[in-house]
Amino acid sequence: MEAREIRKKFLEFFESKGHKVIPSARVLPENDPTVLFTTAGMHPLVPYLLGEPHPMGNRLANTQKCIRTGDIEEVGDTTHLTFFEMLGNWSLGDYFKEDAIKWSFEFLTSKEWLGIPLEKLAVTVFEGDDDAPRDEEAAGIWKELGVPEHRIAYMNKKANWWGPAGQTGPCGPDTEMFYWVGEGDAPMDSNPKTDEDNWVEIWNDVFMQYFKQDDGSFTPLEQQNVDTGMGLERVAAVLQGKKSAYETELFMPIIEKIEALTDQKYDDDPRGFRIIADHLRTATIMAGDGVVPSNNDQGYVMRRLMRRAIRWGKKMGIQEGFTATIAKKVIHILSDIFPELNQEEMILKIFRDEEEKFEKTIHAGLREFEKLQKRLEGDTIEGKAAFKLYDTYGYPIEMTEELAEEAGLKIDREGFDQCFKEHQEKSRAGAQQKFSGGLADDSAECTRLHTATHLLHQALRDVLGDHVYQKGSNITKERLRFDFNHDEKMTQEQLQEVENIINREIQNDLPVHFEIMDPDEAREKGVIGLFDDKYAQLDNKVKVYIMGDYSKEICGGPHVEHTGELTEFKITKEQASSAGIRRIKAVVKANSPEKF
Ligand code: SER
Repeated sequence: MEAREIRKKFLEFFESKGHKVIPSARVLPENDPTVLFTTAGMHPLVPYLLGEPHPMGNRLANTQKCIRTGDIEEVGDTTHLTFFEMLGNWSLGDYFKEDAIKWSFEFLTSKEWLGIPLEKLAVTVFEGDDDAPRDEEAAGIWKELGVPEHRIAYMNKKANWWGPAGQTGPCGPDTEMFYWVGEGDAPMDSNPKTDEDNWVEIWNDVFMQYFKQDDGSFTPLEQQNVDTGMGLERVAAVLQGKKSAYETELFMPIIEKIEALTDQKYDDDPRGFRIIADHLRTATIMAGDGVVPSNNDQGYVMRRLMRRAIRWGKKMGIQEGFTATIAKKVIHILSDIFPELNQEEMILKIFRDEEEKFEKTIHAGLREFEKLQKRLEGDTIEGKAAFKLYDTYGYPIEMTEELAEEAGLKIDREGFDQCFKEHQEKSRAGAQQKFSGGLADDSAECTRLHTATHLLHQALRDVLGDHVYQKGSNITKERLRFDFNHDEKMTQEQLQEVENIINREIQNDLPVHFEIMDPDEAREKGVIGLFDDKYAQLDNKVKVYIMGDYSKEICGGPHVEHTGELTEFKITKEQASSAGIRRIKAVVKANSPEKF
């Protein structure tokens, strides 16, 4: 059964059980500052699992884009993927164990749905410990449904407990479902505890009834929830009898493209094919959600994935730029499910630009690495040398580590980290001197332009889309300058629309005030801005400037008291700033009109 059909059936099945299908959230988590990416379907739902009413009700289902980057170096084997789709259904304080398990069983075994024969299934349940009791209830429900006792294994917290997604949050015991992938029939007494190689986990029903606190303790949640997760790629692979997800139709068109580009065969040596396919698929998803390669946070992970894929491409003999061609395949396979991938031109340009950038230094970097290798006396490359590869040639440290490993060498990682820290401190000090927080001073002129910057940020998102984020801001008495991610030159109509919106909000004379909030609360309320902006940080809280009902943004201030203090707003320039980043300069009309 193809992935497309599995996905469709899953969502139809849960719709038939009263669930509302919600769209996938972006891969950039909005409710959790402790992780870089959304790692599970429940992640964007945390506020609702904690009791906030969800606008679509208390039964939800979807396919969620998930990124897990803990094991990038492992990618290349049959099991690791950095991006995957998680099919999930949720009960927000509605049904609990019995319905969750019954429906999982029906979906897996009924001929109308996946039709998996009972002999190919086994389950695990939580064996109990000091935090929560042995889950006889779940085991009893499985037995009633017809799962034989010898296919039910009781396992510990490491195996049968899920969450939280970040450091604290909702979590609970789970029951997991496994599919037999061994030769012939599963032996009589075999189960996932006795034979972990031949039973592959396909679905996890979590009974979220606890909250893990900062101190590691578990307290009961007011609301009993169900959170389930089924990895689509893996289920497609096992149902199709394939060794890995890479051999399913979700990846095969990408693999075939790489075969054509390299003149090599996937079957002869699949590792490089998998690395390229996985990494560029993930980077495509990231680009669709507004990430651009950079040296920080999500952007750094994206850069690392792309550059690792490019290096493997070179290694396998690809001479020309190829990443955009692969991204195009990914878009083709997934854009009807994830419509943000339809921003094809923007995504491809990000790929071309990053590849071009790396192209300029990759060969010189490799030569530098070879020189290093020749000079080397022991088996450890100095941190300073690894830092030069990073700083001058754009080699992510993990990539240098991989190169070193292939050559049987080590890297002085501590030395590298030290150089990195020193470099960061230096550039931070420099930036501070230059901008002092983006604002030249707190004069009336700068303050007005600062308020105008917030209106501009929101108006750009309204006109161009939610992928737009501030990438830089600089204000002098004369003008504001605002950098943001967007891939195309803005049209005259778009510029006009942005101006019109801002002037409308100026006319509306919105009141401006600030509130101090928890970062989580701010995220829930849809506040935009840099959550790590040190000018807006107060004892783990953030300062949020609110302009009527139009704009909510994290900021240290200062701002005017009413937007009516601004008089007219005008854009004077729109231009490219760097790859994927546009720059707008604008002025606020002073009392003397000729000053435009
Ligand atoms: N959160 C659980 C998981 O990721 C079930 O969705 O496995």
